[in-house]
Amino acid sequence: MAWQREVSLADCDAAAPGIDRARVPRHVAIIMDGNGRWARKRGLPRTAGHRAGVKALREVVAACADIGVEYLTLFAFSTENWQRPRPEVSALMDLLVESLRTYLEELQQQGVRVRAIGHVDGLPPRARQAVQEAIAATAGNRRLTLVFALNYGGRREIVDAARAIARRVEAGDLRPEDIDETVFGRFLYTADLPDPDLLIRPSGEMRVSNFLLWQLAYTELYVTPVLWPDFSRHELFEAIRDFQRRERRFGRVGGTPRAGEGDGGC
Ligand code: FPP
Repeated sequence: MAWQREVSLADCDAAAPGIDRARVPRHVAIIMDGNGRWARKRGLPRTAGHRAGVKALREVVAACADIGVEYLTLFAFSTENWQRPRPEVSALMDLLVESLRTYLEELQQQGVRVRAIGHVDGLPPRARQAVQEAIAATAGNRRLTLVFALNYGGRREIVDAARAIARRVEAGDLRPEDIDETVFGRFLYTADLPDPDLLIRPSGEMRVSNFLLWQLAYTELYVTPVLWPDFSRHELFEAIRDFQRRERRFGRVGGTPRAGEGDGGC
């Protein structure tokens, strides 16, 4: 197609083999799934799986920063996860606090800005404080925005937006006929983030599990059987290579050049 440019060797490199640096997805979202299965396979407690999941998380953050992904959104704790056994929820909160504090310096060095979406105010105070500290400490970083979805539910987000819009209409600040998709998007937690280009779901489940329901409308989906704790830089690059082989049409027949369009390259 006319808009497909030739890929030069300069776009490819040994650090990220086969990836066209000019068409790296701007925003990658990941449902970090499979920690429990990973632990069970090894006869370990589920919390060991979550701990191994943090190791994968660090590797993927570093890899995203290296290849120029601008936004990485991770489903870390859903509104449904409260229904897990109390000790597991508590261990997850402890792990969140410990990880944010332990790796804050690493995030700073990598130029990572931490953000959160979801009802962070509903987290236990120790977790809320660690998240707020990480957000404040990294606010000036620009290389990669790392968005943690915490106490997050996609339906809840849409309901929250609808309520906020209703209040604005009630107050006379907004007319119903002015509400369109752009206006609605401004009331979502992700108002200042681009929609994800690529959603990665490890552990083989073929569902979106109440994650970014509005934002995923035209996102490319990539499901791999690899469990999250085994997900590495190599797996991420495999997902991105697959993404770069796809043609994104956004409901159209052809398309203008956007990240992810084309036939791959390197
Ligand atoms: C899903 O795996 C994973 C989670 C609910 C938590 C993900 C959290 C991390 C990777 C650690 C980093 C984030 C925090 C909050 C510290 P699962 O337990 O549902 O796995 P299974 O489906 O195999 O049981």
